[in-house]
Amino acid sequence: KGLFTYDPGFVSTAACESKITYIDGEKGILLHGGYPIEQLAEHSDYLETCYLLLNGELPNAEEKEKFVSIVKNHTMVHEQMSHFFNGFRRDAHPMAIMVACVGALSAFYHDSLDINDAHHREVCAFRLIAKMPTLAAMCYKYSIGQPFMYPRNELGYAENFLHMMFGTPCEEYKPSPVLAKAMDRIFLLHADHEQNASTSTVRLAGSSGANPFACISSGIAALWGPAHGGANEAVLTMLEEIGDEANIPEFIERAKDPEDPFRLMGFGHRVYRNFDPRAKVMKATCDQVLAELGVEDEPLLKIAKRLEQIALEDEYFVERKLYPNVDFYSGIILKAIGIPTSMFTVIFALSRTIGWISHWNEFHSSPNRIGRPRQLYTGPQKRDYPA
Ligand code: CMC
Repeated sequence: KGLFTYDPGFVSTAACESKITYIDGEKGILLHGGYPIEQLAEHSDYLETCYLLLNGELPNAEEKEKFVSIVKNHTMVHEQMSHFFNGFRRDAHPMAIMVACVGALSAFYHDSLDINDAHHREVCAFRLIAKMPTLAAMCYKYSIGQPFMYPRNELGYAENFLHMMFGTPCEEYKPSPVLAKAMDRIFLLHADHEQNASTSTVRLAGSSGANPFACISSGIAALWGPAHGGANEAVLTMLEEIGDEANIPEFIERAKDPEDPFRLMGFGHRVYRNFDPRAKVMKATCDQVLAELGVEDEPLLKIAKRLEQIALEDEYFVERKLYPNVDFYSGIILKAIGIPTSMFTVIFALSRTIGWISHWNEFHSSPNRIGRPRQLYTGPQKRDYPA
């Protein structure tokens, strides 16, 4: 006490400066490089937003083409990686496999691990952005016993991911432009969110000089929890458990009961005390996707909309300023695209990789020192070992 500030949960401590993302939680504003998330979702695409997060500016046409072409150059993973998968049970959670595989990438790329070399850092960023969809799709293919699909570089980033997820050597998978766009938008909306738990984990791991693949692996592990990225999976499980609009009040009461650990998943946010701007775009995208597929009356969407309406009118949620967050509607879109629930958080990790690597790169691009939080010791005073 006295020497430092006690701030459990980092509610009021800024641990770094950053130029990447701005959030005003009271007003529900999210900007990347100064650009509002709603405008990026409308006019940009995921890879262009990746460029923005990494470089601080939007690319011109030539820069974008070059960026996309370098990403495509790195989409394959080393063939040895496929053997790595065989060590896992088929029913392993794909996030467990991702933590392991992404960390293991550092064993393959000794040529670019000098974190003080800006070019090496950039190559690592390209490798990670390019390989995450390949590894993610491999997790799914492994779980269902189908052969891994190689990336197809003539496809767009989201289309290629869907091809590796749902294509087979016997049959090509061609998503409709609306579905490919929705997938790309989900990637874009999750791309960065300043110093959340996983990004702070990556920055802290990076501050020791650890290699970028190991740092991103630590970010994936931090993201997995249900209070963070695991919420998208938890939302869908919750909606399925609710099962019928008639059961909503019972779940609302459980969420309000201080004795019950149950929380309304997809609701609340540490920073937003207003609508999460990403949730609004996500809700509109959800409507578009379900209309495209002709399943507007999807029962889970109905439950989600009614649940949102009831919660937003309930005193408990109003008083605490608990609004739907980015994950409230993303799961319904992913389910409609055909993505299994266990892959939802993997998709969050794939999308957030650019945020993690941009923050890691920003950390190493400026004067820095190792992160070392302090603590308040509450254990026993000095005492003698019993003779
Ligand atoms: N359902 C019911 N009550 C809630 C919820 C919820 N989802 N979220 C917060 N509360 C209550 C909480 O019990 C507390 O009440 P009280 O003041 O009476 O003790 C009050 O609201 C403040 O909550 P808190 O736990 O202090 O808030 P936090 O900032 O520490 O936690 C959160 C933020 C996101 C972890 C939390 O809102 C939560 O667990 N939400 C559900 C999980 C979720 O959707 N997570 C995804 C976050 S967005 C994606 C991402 O970026 O990771």
